[in-house]
Amino acid sequence: MAAPNTSEATDARTAPVAVWQVLERMSKEELTEWRVTEIQNRPSVEDRNLDIGFPFGWYPMLLSSELAVGEVKALRYFGQELAIWRGEDGEVRMMGAYCLHLGAHMGHGGKVHGNMLECPFHAWRYDGNEGVVKEIPYSESIPPRVQKPCKKTWHITEKNQLIWAWYHPEDAAPLYDVLDLPEASDPNWTEFDECEWRIWGSLQNVAENGVDFAHFKYVHGTADVPEAEMEFGEWDRRGIVRAKMGTPKGVVDGEIASVSQGPGQNWVRFSGICETLLVACLTPVDEDHLHVRYFYTQPKEQAEGMVGRVAKAIIADVNKQLDQDKVIWDRQKYQPRPIICHGDGPIAKFRMFYAKYYAEGDGKPRHLQPKEAATA
Ligand code: FES
Ligand SMILES: [Fe+2]
Repeated sequence: MAAPNTSEATDARTAPVAVWQVLERMSKEELTEWRVTEIQNRPSVEDRNLDIGFPFGWYPMLLSSELAVGEVKALRYFGQELAIWRGEDGEVRMMGAYCLHLGAHMGHGGKVHGNMLECPFHAWRYDGNEGVVKEIPYSESIPPRVQKPCKKTWHITEKNQLIWAWYHPEDAAPLYDVLDLPEASDPNWTEFDECEWRIWGSLQNVAENGVDFAHFKYVHGTADVPEAEMEFGEWDRRGIVRAKMGTPKGVVDGEIASVSQGPGQNWVRFSGICETLLVACLTPVDEDHLHVRYFYTQPKEQAEGMVGRVAKAIIADVNKQLDQDKVIWDRQKYQPRPIICHGDGPIAKFRMFYAKYYAEGDGKPRHLQPKEAATA
């Protein structure tokens, strides 16, 4: 991700930038398709060093509006098949999709019975809170093994118009909360404007982009590397970029404040020309597959007023920057010991911080730090 440039900006982006040549060959329709089309015959997860598991945290599953009362949906995230449903009490529940009886996928054809999920194969009924079978309509008894609470419970919450699930590979309870973004439920702000991608790479590589200062010039074509301040808290990462932005009314001081709470809650506030909140939803599907949905909201009086055209241009430009990064991320290998040079930004510091989002003790290589950390 990088600073937005409006079409009128004093944007001294300089062609030719290598990845633009890939993107410029596509028509608008081809680009839309390219954003979500799977790359076939890509190198294995092991060849790309992406077999490092998934960082734990809260992740967006669906928009709240995408799951009605009584509805069941199939999802695949964190390398798992999942079934998610909304009970008659309005609460969302989720569990592994495969039925413990004879293995039907309950995300396909399963139905909601009260607040339980009923398997489409023989109607066993699951209570998602405990992952146990509460009813088998044709049987006089329930096998004891499925009466015991399962150790896996998916913690679910709804905030910012989204359904969030807590992922932890060892099933630890949530260590922090989903933060509230007031704009996301403010009636004076626009409905979410959405753009969707599939990235054929890892969340960690994508997250590292924000501290990779040198790429801004060579991927996004900025004239200079923007001045950025980075801060790392207990679970959060914060960055502020201040940049001059060109507008029809002259140059204004723009500010881009990005916050990540854990690996899965990411948002960016743009100010200066038109206030914009981007809720960036990035959820791992597999170790080399990330589902990305960007949701934007802006104050109605700005988006529908004088600066409406600029407001739209901000959104289009941020989307374009993700396209540019995607060209790299789709093929990128994770270098556990990268060779870092002066001017690269705090990549080593970022990796040291990001390692805290992984569960301890599974022997994965993610904790290796670059040898040149001291000079980066
Ligand atoms: S496979 Fe689910 S009830 Fe039989
Ligand atoms: Fe970028």
